[in-house]
Amino acid sequence: MRFPDGFLWGAATSAHQIEGGNVNNDWWRAEEAGLLPHRSGNANDSWNRWAEDIELLQQIGLNAYRLSIEWARVEPEPGRFDQPALDVYRRQLEGLKHAGIEPMVTLHHFTNPRWLADRGGWRNPDVGPLLANYTDRVARQMGDLVKWWITINEPSILGLKGYIEGSWPPHRPMDLRGYVQLMHHAARGHILARRAVRAQRADAMVSMAFALWPMQALRWWSPIDQAMARFGDWLWQGRVLSRALSALDWIGVNYYSRNVVGWPWPTRVLNSANRTDFGWEIYPQGLYDVLRRVGRYGKPVVITENGIADADDDQRPAYILAHVRQLHRAISDGVDLRGYMHWSLLDNFEWAEGYEQRFGLATRERLLRPSAQTYGKIARANALDPGDTSGLAFR
Ligand code: FCB
Repeated sequence: MRFPDGFLWGAATSAHQIEGGNVNNDWWRAEEAGLLPHRSGNANDSWNRWAEDIELLQQIGLNAYRLSIEWARVEPEPGRFDQPALDVYRRQLEGLKHAGIEPMVTLHHFTNPRWLADRGGWRNPDVGPLLANYTDRVARQMGDLVKWWITINEPSILGLKGYIEGSWPPHRPMDLRGYVQLMHHAARGHILARRAVRAQRADAMVSMAFALWPMQALRWWSPIDQAMARFGDWLWQGRVLSRALSALDWIGVNYYSRNVVGWPWPTRVLNSANRTDFGWEIYPQGLYDVLRRVGRYGKPVVITENGIADADDDQRPAYILAHVRQLHRAISDGVDLRGYMHWSLLDNFEWAEGYEQRFGLATRERLLRPSAQTYGKIARANALDPGDTSGLAFR
């Protein structure tokens, strides 16, 4: 089961989850204030140890890496850019290029500079222009090294956690207005940031990473469940996706599982047998469904995240095989899929779950797990062995 030439086989991380010491962002402040259950602390110390991360990618046999740039490091005060910090990112990107690894850069992955949070964060209509201004600076410094860009990671998760649940910064439970403002400003911010990137590099490929959890009706025959699924889907992902669509050069898909919705339970897990450590249902078919859905737009697609919390690594190898099978199926059915970034390269700071949920192909100590070999074999061969049916366990 071969994949197209040049297919990107990578792993994904984000700055706050691995760098450590991100003292100038809103997460750090909330962690220190005791508003979050865990502290990121030194994380994986990737701010200093990024060269070892590159070595890990090489050991696995990957040809791509999705990482993020921390806005709060680059612009610690409004309008003041930190050149040494920009230089660290540049060296890291050069290191990746040198190792034959294609970088994919995210500009905003959940965290905000403190000063931006103080100005209302994503509720502030100025956030789009501010994001574009920071993006302009990054693109000027690194545009020559980066072709693949993600402006904003998962606005819908940020909205759900920050403005509906209120469990993440800015801790505003049931602020529906805030949620809608965030989604609106994220779409606008994407459009402006993309313009800033493309002004520096005309052939840049710019997208967002969307959290695409298919919404399915609990009872197919129930019009109420159907309506809930459709409304939930629109609110959750359809709205921001359709607003940004004309400004997406490709579509970034983060896929983990599905949501089953139906009256009177907003969400349910159907298949309780196949669950990750996090409790998420393992549902590879949903990856195919999502790919077909976004494939309709006729744009290139990359899986920007897919992975499993599995501390003892007993499910991850089969999880990878099962999901890679679905990628192959989608390509065979005409989806222009260009790559797959496994979440994550190494165990890291999993937001409100701290270091308890372990998504890594490697541990926090940078020791590769057996699943890294499973994945590396696929990446090196650019193919899946059809005889390897262990992924069929999840059906
Ligand atoms: C996604 C996030 C990523 C990571 C995974 C498990 O929603 O983008 O940072 O936390 O979930």
